[in-house]
Amino acid sequence: MSEDVIALASDHAGFPLKEELKVVLQDQGYPVLDLGTDGTQSVDYPDFASAMAEAITSGRAGRGVLICGTGIGISIAANRHRGIRAALCHDATTARLSRQHNNANVLALGARVTGPDVAKECLEVFLNTGYEGGRHDRRLAKL
Ligand code: RB5
Repeated sequence: MSEDVIALASDHAGFPLKEELKVVLQDQGYPVLDLGTDGTQSVDYPDFASAMAEAITSGRAGRGVLICGTGIGISIAANRHRGIRAALCHDATTARLSRQHNNANVLALGARVTGPDVAKECLEVFLNTGYEGGRHDRRLAKL
């Protein structure tokens, strides 16, 4: 079922972390859709944010993880697409609140600023925290 599918995408700076997180997800039994990039050769992060937006809005994946050097460029690019709520998270608290308050459907990470252990913790929390709804529905409707 595509709702269960987790899409992953990164630029060159995020590639090694993407590969690490892919293993984590596969070990936990998640179906993974890898949208690239496929190596450390320089690429443009907006292209991978667009691929993520297409995968989620078309229903090929339910949630996603985007990674660049800081997480800033790729989250800015992703949030230009209707239906994408990409949250740049730096720790378990921001990952938890991105789900509870913002119903984020994309976790954005910065591979040059967030270490792999913290990134894995963010991913775990992001995947296992629900949206609270209630007053937040009104705010999301204004996005
Ligand atoms: C690539 O050098 C770097 O600019 C990119 O990964 C990202 O950090 C942009 O926001």
